[in-house]
Amino acid sequence: MLEGKLINLRVLEKEDLPFFAEWINKPEFYGEHNPLRQVSRTEIEKTFEKTALELKNFVVEKKDGSKIGFVCHFTLTHPVGKLLEIGYSLIPSERGKGYCTEAVQIMVDYLFLSRDVIRVQACTDTRNVASQRVLEKAGFKKEGLMRKYFFLRGGFRDAYLYSILREEWKDPKIIAGRPDRQG
Ligand SMILES: CC(C)(COP(=O)(O)OP(=O)(O)OC[C@H]1O[C@@H](n2cnc3c(N)ncnc32)[C@H](O)[C@@H]1OP(=O)(O)O)[C@@H](O)C(=O)NCCC(=O)NCCS
Repeated sequence: MLEGKLINLRVLEKEDLPFFAEWINKPEFYGEHNPLRQVSRTEIEKTFEKTALELKNFVVEKKDGSKIGFVCHFTLTHPVGKLLEIGYSLIPSERGKGYCTEAVQIMVDYLFLSRDVIRVQACTDTRNVASQRVLEKAGFKKEGLMRKYFFLRGGFRDAYLYSILREEWKDPKIIAGRPDRQG
């Protein structure tokens, strides 16, 4: 369990798959800026067991234990190396309360503390202002525009690529990384 101030991140377990399936099959969960998808429990279970993307999902839980969404990291294999990317989504009733920003900050801390990586990246539809705001508040920088990057809702959409470099992150923001760190 990775503990934040407002929320905690807990690795998604097999027992979580029923509510996870329910979330991701509801069009409003991913919202208007993400691909519309319908996934069977069998497919979700297969992805959980084995994935080429090295995908790992964490459930975002409030301090009272209620489950409000997920944040994930996955690896994209590129000819010159591997790229570490994150994704996230919250149930509509829990948005706009700062929870996702903290979930992303915890994930970034976790990845830089646990892996020998120089950058963590994320990409988002150019119209997804809430997602861009989350990334900027968590210290990511916009790298550029990727034209016609996603197929969404019947059309191709442009996306922004964001990243945070290890030297920009410097120190954990949420996870207590040093014994002398307060709060
Ligand atoms: C993107 C998402 C995860 C953000 O979660 P969240 O918990 O609401 O994020 P936070 O509360 O931490 O921050 C949201 C910020 O965006 C701002 N925001 C939200 N909607 C906005 C809009 N339409 N225009 C401008 N700013 C907006 C909020 O005001 C807040 O910024 P502030 O703290 O400066 O006021 C959530 O909207 C969601 O689940 N969307 C559907 C799935 C999705 O798009 N995932 C991202 C894929 S790239």
